[in-house]
Amino acid sequence: MRVLIHLSDLHFGRADPAIVQPLIDFIRTTKPNLVAVSGDLTQRARSQQFLEARKFLEAIPFPKIVVPGNHDVPLRNLFARLFRKFDRFRRYISDDLEPFYADDEIAVAGVNTARALTGKNGRISRQQLEKLRTRFANMPSHVKIVVTHHPFDLPPGVVGDRVVLRAESAMKTLAQIPVDMLLAGHFHDNFSALIVASGTAISTRGRGQPNSLNVIDIEALNISITQHRWDPNRAGFEPFSTERFVRMANGWTPA
Ligand SMILES: [Fe+2]
Ligand SMILES: [Fe+2]
Repeated sequence: MRVLIHLSDLHFGRADPAIVQPLIDFIRTTKPNLVAVSGDLTQRARSQQFLEARKFLEAIPFPKIVVPGNHDVPLRNLFARLFRKFDRFRRYISDDLEPFYADDEIAVAGVNTARALTGKNGRISRQQLEKLRTRFANMPSHVKIVVTHHPFDLPPGVVGDRVVLRAESAMKTLAQIPVDMLLAGHFHDNFSALIVASGTAISTRGRGQPNSLNVIDIEALNISITQHRWDPNRAGFEPFSTERFVRMANGWTPA
């Protein structure tokens, strides 16, 4: 079995300092095989905010898959936005915007969906989809996971723009591979299964949602996703709900 912790939308600059250390403690106690951070590490892509995000990541002594979000691209400086959009992410977080992790049981690919000109929406390119196909080739027995900032599907009750442009053709490719689980953030909201969204782990921009993260237990035939929510009274992350899935011939089905 592998244990993956999925965090999102840390938004350093708007992070609640009271939650940062308990989150680090929670992760260290859980001892996951991998931590996935699905973007929006900062509030405004400022150096100081990236430094805080880096300090946080350095306090987590486990393998990590980290991708940028729309907030990690400079907003107001047009030159920086167009030509140097990932400079700070590369400098402070990682030079690899599309990281990959594989062990004997799981394979996890990060895809950078943040763009300079799509506003809050993200995009996935044909090349990125082909890269996923290549990366996951010859891994029939691995549980295959993709981490993006922008989700490929909208949470219930949200209307408007699609959030990953080209989501439809992307979903076709992901189904062909087939990818088992999609981890995303962006909405600061938690929604449906195997398309997993994490709420914001520490940011005060929770839009009324409590701070949360997902602990995901992965086996070849079983996946369980436990949402943990911040409990201010106990000053810790506590299990809130668990969803279990089994692998059937036609895909993952709620258990
Ligand atoms: Fe966000
Ligand atoms: Fe976002």
